[in-house]
Amino acid sequence: MKTLSGKVALVTGGASGIGLASASRLAESGATVAVVDIDATAAESAASLLGGVAVHADVSRSDQWPGIVEEITGRLGGIDLAHLNAGVTTGEADISLLTDAQYRRALGVNVDGVAFGIRALVPVMTSRGGGSIVATASLAGLIGYSPDPIYALTKAAVVGLVRALAPQLAEKHITINAICPGLVDTPLIDDVRELLEQSGFPIIDPSAVADAVLGCLTGEESGRAMVVQAGREALSFRFARPPGPRAAGAEGKLPPKELTAHDQA
Ligand SMILES: NC(=O)c1ccc[n+]([C@@H]2O[C@H](COP(=O)([O-])OP(=O)(O)OC[C@H]3O[C@@H](n4cnc5c(N)ncnc54)[C@H](O)[C@@H]3O)[C@@H](O)[C@H]2O)c1
Repeated sequence: MKTLSGKVALVTGGASGIGLASASRLAESGATVAVVDIDATAAESAASLLGGVAVHADVSRSDQWPGIVEEITGRLGGIDLAHLNAGVTTGEADISLLTDAQYRRALGVNVDGVAFGIRALVPVMTSRGGGSIVATASLAGLIGYSPDPIYALTKAAVVGLVRALAPQLAEKHITINAICPGLVDTPLIDDVRELLEQSGFPIIDPSAVADAVLGCLTGEESGRAMVVQAGREALSFRFARPPGPRAAGAEGKLPPKELTAHDQA
């Protein structure tokens, strides 16, 4: 059944890999999809394949987000669902060799692209009575991923942002979740694919990530980090509670309501 008929979905980085798989799954489910990508040619061909629209933009630039939202709402009437997925690696494991350009690009696409995207999308979703957002983080945001520490930084940032925003977005009937895949078969892992294949490590098919994204976008849950690994259902990562205070007379006490995290309550 086409459960998403009448819905408009935006997918950043929708011209390749996970974004393309997610855009395809959303289109199959009946949504009209806007493929937002810095690669204009690839965005056009993805959009025409899916019967959607292409938006050529750089998600890391805050000044482009009002235009992205305006173009999609102008052409498709609104935005209900968003997969903020565009992302890059730095390609540099050694912090002492990291260039400013590598650092800024990764922070720009992976963090700014998600934060500016959410900021631009919340008013338009609120005007439709609610919506749903998924941000692509990574397993690298949940572990100490040493092969690309700055990439790990950006993905941990996405997980933290999603968890922190969930309560205020719930008041606007908007769900927000992070998707945290392990190694997925996309051009992003071209450098290590051979190594993985030789070692027999199972690489995730992008369609499995798309299934998890669709599950988040159509479900009621919010503030979760969904782990996707090869050969198993997506599952919500269980964060341990950090230790509370032990000061005399205030053992286990929570901060004032205004400063309490939703998962402490
Ligand atoms: N492939 C993996 O193993 C893996 C694992 C976990 C998480 N991820 C994450 O999944 C997301 C998608 O990655 P992928 O593996 O599909 O890679 P990919 O390279 O196949 O696709 C990334 C897409 O993002 C676009 N893009 C890059 N910079 C952009 C910008 N500034 N503005 C707009 N679009 C931009 C690219 O043109 C490309 O179409 C990323 O956030 C990545 O970090 C990937």
